[in-house]
Parts: sequence; structure tokens; C-alpha cells
Amino acid sequence: MVKAQPPRTFSSDENETWKTVFTRHQPTRENKIFELFNQGVATLQMKADQIPDLVLVNKILEPISGFQGLLVEGLEDGASFYQLLAERFFPVGNFIRAKDDIGYTPAPDIIHDLYGHLPFFIDKDYADFCQKFGETAIRYSDRPELFQQFERFFWYTIEFGLIETEHGLKVFGAGIASSLGECEYALGPTPKLVPFDIDKIRHQDFRIDIMQPTLFVLKNVRQLFTSLEALENKIRSSP
Ligand SMILES: [Fe+2]
Repeated sequence: MVKAQPPRTFSSDENETWKTVFTRHQPTRENKIFELFNQGVATLQMKADQIPDLVLVNKILEPISGFQGLLVEGLEDGASFYQLLAERFFPVGNFIRAKDDIGYTPAPDIIHDLYGHLPFFIDKDYADFCQKFGETAIRYSDRPELFQQFERFFWYTIEFGLIETEHGLKVFGAGIASSLGECEYALGPTPKLVPFDIDKIRHQDFRIDIMQPTLFVLKNVRQLFTSLEALENKIRSSP
């Protein structure tokens, strides 16, 4: 059961952490990440000077796509996470990582959730896809071997996807977009890049504690947004 957190006031140290991350990320945001992300950061009026007030972010976001960020304590487990998506909420960890280890967070925080995920939700099709994905996935939450295939799919697309664009390969996943180290790694020579493939993704295990050895590349966003029915059919018919 999700316990929504009240908004909190962040200290000047915490705002300083945000400022450092937001400022350092600017060139990457503008050049390495799918353009929607940068547009979302601007539309949601995120600025370097202080951690955005989620109430104000939601005032802009909700009329655009019907999605809102919801402050939560830490990591939501799979079923409650997808339930929130189904209700057009995205959980936002109500804390920010320590400033002396900016590249690491013990759980999804303001940088990962609010900065990394919410900008993408200014796109109505993206928001609709996530909502439907949540609604679909939770129907399988009591069948772990099927449910985990939805989790893999979410992981390798919304969290760690790459995408081809007319300006070259770009970061699509919020888990990459919210980390400079992940961006550099994902677009560098090390990971094995595989074209988006529903069957391969649903069978591809992942670890959350390492850089991903395999990443999947979308041809375009439509390929993702139209994939849900096929994904569900495959999971249901040949687990
Ligand atoms: Fe995430």
C-alpha cells in the first residue's frame, strides 16, 4: 500500500546537490538524451537554483498528460509501482542523494524520479503508454514468472532504453538519463546493443546493481507505444 508523503523543505545543502547535478547534466541533457526529455525539463520549469516543488510541477504536468508525481518514502515494489502508473501517478522518492557521492543513490530519489522520469510525461502518448502498461502488468502481479517479464520490459525501455534519432543514437531510459555515468557508458563502446525485440527483452534478465551489459535500441517511440498488446499476448500464450 502506498503511503504518500507530505512535501518537505529541503536544506541549502540538498538544494546545492540538486544545483550541482542539474548544472553538470546540461550538456548531456541537450546532446545525448532524446529531445523530449530536454523539452520536459523546460516545460516543467525545472531550474538549477532549487529542487523543484512537486506541487508546482504537477500543476503544469497534470493538465498536459493527466499524470502527476506522488511523493513516496523510497522504492515502491513492483505491484504498487504499477498500480500507481495505472492511476496516472508516478512515485517520487521524497529525498535527495548525499552530495559527496552524487553518482550513487540507495533508492530512487528526487534526481532519479523527478528529474529523470517526470520530464518524459509531458508527452501524452508516453503517459498513456505507461498508464496502460501499469494497468496491464498488475493483472499479472500474482503470477511472478509472468509479472517479471513485464518488469524486464519496463526496465529495458522506460528505464534503460536507447533510441535511434535523425541526430544519432540517444538515451531514452530515465535510469540512464538521470546519471552522467550511465549516459557515458550507454553511448560508449562497452554495452552490447540489440534492436528492440519484445521476445528478447521479456527473456532478458537484469541486475540493478551493475551497468547493463545489454541495452535495447528503439527505432522510434511508436515502436514502443504500440508494443503492449503484442507483449501481453506473448507473455500470456508462451510464458
Ligand atoms: Fe526509475
